[in-house]
Amino acid sequence: MNEPDWKGALSEAFGEALSYLEGLPSRPLSGYPSRSELRAALGGPLPDSPLEARKVIADLAAAAEPGVVASGSGRFFGFVVGGTTPAALAVDWLASTWDQNAGLYVLGPAASVVEEVTGEWLADLFGLPAEVSVGFVTGAQMANFTGLAIALQEVLRRVDWDLATKGLWGAPPVRVLAGQSRHGTIDRALRFLGAGTAAIVEVAADDQGRMLPAALAAALEQGSGPAIVAAQVGNVNSGAIDPVRDICDIAHRHGAWVHVDGAFGLWAAASPRLRPLLAGVELADSWATDAHKWLNVPYDSGLVFCAHPAAHRAAMGSQAGYLMRSVADERDALDYNPEHSRRARGFAVYAALRELGRQGVAELVDRSCAMARRFAEQLTSAVAAEVLNEVVLNQVLVRFLAADGDHDAHTRRVIERVQQEGTCWMSGTTWQGRAAMRISVSNWSTDEVDVDRSVAAIRRCTGE
Ligand SMILES: Cc1ncc(COP(=O)(O)O)c(C=O)c1O
Repeated sequence: MNEPDWKGALSEAFGEALSYLEGLPSRPLSGYPSRSELRAALGGPLPDSPLEARKVIADLAAAAEPGVVASGSGRFFGFVVGGTTPAALAVDWLASTWDQNAGLYVLGPAASVVEEVTGEWLADLFGLPAEVSVGFVTGAQMANFTGLAIALQEVLRRVDWDLATKGLWGAPPVRVLAGQSRHGTIDRALRFLGAGTAAIVEVAADDQGRMLPAALAAALEQGSGPAIVAAQVGNVNSGAIDPVRDICDIAHRHGAWVHVDGAFGLWAAASPRLRPLLAGVELADSWATDAHKWLNVPYDSGLVFCAHPAAHRAAMGSQAGYLMRSVADERDALDYNPEHSRRARGFAVYAALRELGRQGVAELVDRSCAMARRFAEQLTSAVAAEVLNEVVLNQVLVRFLAADGDHDAHTRRVIERVQQEGTCWMSGTTWQGRAAMRISVSNWSTDEVDVDRSVAAIRRCTGE
């Protein structure tokens, strides 16, 4: 066997990683090479001959790094993208080094126990029932998919329809009641599940995007049969939080399952200051969230929780003669995931939680929200702009006001200039028919200096 040069390869990667991370605070958020430039640097025919690992890493880093978006920067406010904390990143490296297949206990006892413990810590942090089951998935899309898959199977089981064997053909129709302002991943999950988006009964929402409980009650009363209610904590635009206690009370009176999409908003439950906004969230039946957003764990890392572990296992579990299943109370993660073989994602989540502690997570969430409010206050006093949402969490929707009255065009121009200028990066959206800049403060390192520098840059881009 050839002696592998672990040290050479890992030292090369360590050097590249460290110089990237140390340069992140001053790295511009614009000026990336074009696709054809990247193709020229990275493409060409598959080489015939091998290349030493160290050189592979150095060459790839040199060619790829100019095209790496500095989304881990404290001044990246696009979409809802977190960075990575030092412990989460370093432990994610270890997870790759250990290269565990986290599907079965027998393939990774430590990975299994870490996920078990991390699930318990998170249930405690979010105030969910202690007995919830957990699955470590790629992101909130797959967490929504998993939660809705469990829900679909369980609400049909309650009317004596065995979805696992009979499928949806001929099944009693299942209504999925979801707010007008839901995230597109709910619709996409229903497509994947074969339920189709026609199963959705849209429930009216208020001007912040919060589902209206009275509209939900009316919609539930208008029909009958198995039902799932998809609630949301943390609207991707406004950050608004559905009134989950009322939603759960109404839904459960009608025998419906409540799934909560809390991709980033569920983390607000970790803050004693914000927790009252999520009152009643523990009453739901399943929850989706992300660790790669607000907890600042490297991609990809999503989580699904379920208040009915047996239903969770019934929907996700897998059996085969060759699969060595645990015989005692060891946890085989594939019983809780749509994946079969998978990465040991729990290690990095465990590390982030251990590094921050309960207090640190609350501070991270509170600080992000304070920085979002700072953006809202400073932008409206620095330039002609209005904030379109109630800044309840880390999301701000800003509309720039034009002298000629064409605020949509002006807002889109400002966003484009900000993206080109490179001090900070924000994405745009259309909120209730009006163009807006979306500011999402999700990075653990964002501070007042980052916000103030960004506000100054935005001001320059408005031409004021
Ligand atoms: C409310 C909500 N749900 C689901 C998602 C999808 O999350 P992911 O991209 O991690 O799958 C997002 C992403 O921003 C979101 O904000």
